[in-house]
Amino acid sequence: MVAVPVDLRRRRILLAATTALGAVGLGVSAVPFVLSMTPSARAKAQGGPIEIDLSKLEPGQMLTVQWRGKPIWVLRRSNEILSRLKTNGHFLVDPDSEVETQQPAYAKNIGRSIKPEFFIAIGLCTHLGCVPSKKIASGALSGLGEDWPGGYFCACHGSKFDLAGRVYKNVPAPTNLVIPPHRYLADRIVEVGVHHVV
Ligand code: FES
Repeated sequence: MVAVPVDLRRRRILLAATTALGAVGLGVSAVPFVLSMTPSARAKAQGGPIEIDLSKLEPGQMLTVQWRGKPIWVLRRSNEILSRLKTNGHFLVDPDSEVETQQPAYAKNIGRSIKPEFFIAIGLCTHLGCVPSKKIASGALSGLGEDWPGGYFCACHGSKFDLAGRVYKNVPAPTNLVIPPHRYLADRIVEVGVHHVV
């Protein structure tokens, strides 16, 4: 056995004690830090509601924010997109949003939204949870054929959704994209994570 000089042994013990105290100190100081957060910062840290400003979104543009670790899509739909939604029914599994788990009751309409202009959805494929790509433009340039009406394409296994998040027939995803709870705080401010009161 190698003999450790007394001084070195003492230093090691002191170092261990200091480290342990440091850890306790960190624990004690972390609690007041969390408590000192503002209510909205605390809500965010705990996955509470988030506010999204829609005022800069142009028709046809989409933004993505994170809520509870999930991508939330916000698409501003043009009049042309809205009129195309009405003609998509024949190739969709659930055009009338009959599967209740996929949207709140106030989003059970053709656009699956509170305001037709703004489509808000959780951007996770309902097959195995990949993030589909946005393919908003219609037609051949999308790479999905001449008759593509605009929507979302999941490259993992080929599922397709329209611009209301409604799933196509004959793809692996079984249901429409999920619409999160949301409400409008002002004309162009939406809050995700809180239900709209009808
Ligand atoms: S995860 Fe999207 S098609 Fe499989």
